[in-house]
Amino acid sequence: MKKTLLIEKLIEISNGDKVSFHTPGHKFGKIFTKLKCERILESLTIIDSTELAETDNLHQPIGIIKKAQENAAEAFNSDKTFFLVNGSTAGVYAMIMSAVEPGNKIIIGRDCHQSVINALILGDIQPIYIYPEADVKNGITLGISPEKVEALLVEHKEIKAVLITYPTYYGIASDLKKITEIAHKYDKIMLVDGAHGAHLGLSEKLPITPMECGVDAVVESTHKTLLSLTQSSMLHVKGNRIDREKLKFMLRVHQSSSPSYILMASLDLAANIYKEKGNYLMDNLLCNIREFKKRIKNVEGVTILDERITERKSVEALDQTKIYIKLKGVLGSRFEQVLRKDYDIEMEMANEKGVLGITSIANEKEDFSKLALAIEEISQRYSKVPKPEDILKNIITNNNCNFSIDTPECIYTPRKAHYMKKGPILLKKSVGLVCGESIVPYPPGIPLIVAGELIREETVQRLLQIKREKTKLLGMKDANMEYIEIIQTNEVK
Ligand SMILES: Cc1ncc(COP(=O)(O)O)c(C=O)c1O
Repeated sequence: MKKTLLIEKLIEISNGDKVSFHTPGHKFGKIFTKLKCERILESLTIIDSTELAETDNLHQPIGIIKKAQENAAEAFNSDKTFFLVNGSTAGVYAMIMSAVEPGNKIIIGRDCHQSVINALILGDIQPIYIYPEADVKNGITLGISPEKVEALLVEHKEIKAVLITYPTYYGIASDLKKITEIAHKYDKIMLVDGAHGAHLGLSEKLPITPMECGVDAVVESTHKTLLSLTQSSMLHVKGNRIDREKLKFMLRVHQSSSPSYILMASLDLAANIYKEKGNYLMDNLLCNIREFKKRIKNVEGVTILDERITERKSVEALDQTKIYIKLKGVLGSRFEQVLRKDYDIEMEMANEKGVLGITSIANEKEDFSKLALAIEEISQRYSKVPKPEDILKNIITNNNCNFSIDTPECIYTPRKAHYMKKGPILLKKSVGLVCGESIVPYPPGIPLIVAGELIREETVQRLLQIKREKTKLLGMKDANMEYIEIIQTNEVK
């Protein structure tokens, strides 16, 4: 047999001693052996089924899938739970497109994931963006203000729904209860992208769950922060503001007609563990995180995002299972690289200022000891002699932020812009023209500009800055960032 490149590489990685503070939440699956439920792993190929008489049908469940979804609904406190096999991405599409009809408007947190923007293109929906508060010092975005949501609902009476990300990648939780009350007061549908919050119901020390806040629907990536396999997620619904038949139709549109039984089985398992052992495992995790933070609190040059962030007006709570660490004098990307190369510790991501780790109930006490030791050593090695280029870069970035705090003027809706004729123009000559691509600097992943919006002097200056600093960026056709795509005429391609 020829080499099976993927399998060999993946097994090699998982057999090593790598410590995982990234997704998926099961962290190389070792937790399944610990919890004595490794049978699912051993049976992976034999449970890979299709719709047989006894295996039910995800798109019209009446048997084992129906029962498994009902069990999950009970565990996650929803009226109805749908298993998702095409990631939260498909759930976001279905949720938005069943709540808002073509041509209608929705309030969207501008710090949304690209799946939200893509849903607007697919559904021909018009966004009214709302900006989160910015934390320039930490290089992250904070929460969405309920007052701002209310002001927009008063101004734009025709809005149909509100959608925010809760919690954010960095664990920031807005006052979702208040935002939901406001949305419902104005008879709007409240939707949540909860991709990073599937675990929130496991402890009172974590931000309150969207279901407890009374939202109408939330999509959660069970695979990111709980124990199901990558690409498996859940959509939870409460009340009757969302038309269930429309939602089921949209789920059929956006999901495979051959849904993976392996993924569905892993969701069933994750919901079972959540219900039976989740609280206990989460208590352990939070205890390990507390000890870790205590240990590195006094390490020279280290700052950790902690509960003090809730003093900021827009932040109601912090999801402590996300660990955002900055080390003075060391760029986030360098910090991440040293952790990976010298300590075999894989973080979720880095920004210019720090690194982000996503922990889960599958992380062991030992993982935190290794991370703490690594940070202590790196601090010794680097904070004393910062590299000249690091200092220079820090001076540049400390004064700037990768996100704007107001929306460029929208000339065409995302869908209209998507289908219009486009072409390149020198970036420096693009001010006043309509952008033909959606450009997203990472992190924080907030679109700097969305296709159909007007290019401003500020947009160009920020792009030039991003080019200088070599920040990661998605969506620009010209990798050299000399040219930007603009909409050329009103004609459709
Ligand atoms: C905020 C947010 N929403 C939605 C998604 C899409 O989730 P999935 O990867 O499960 O499709 C992501 C993915 O990273 C995300 O960060």
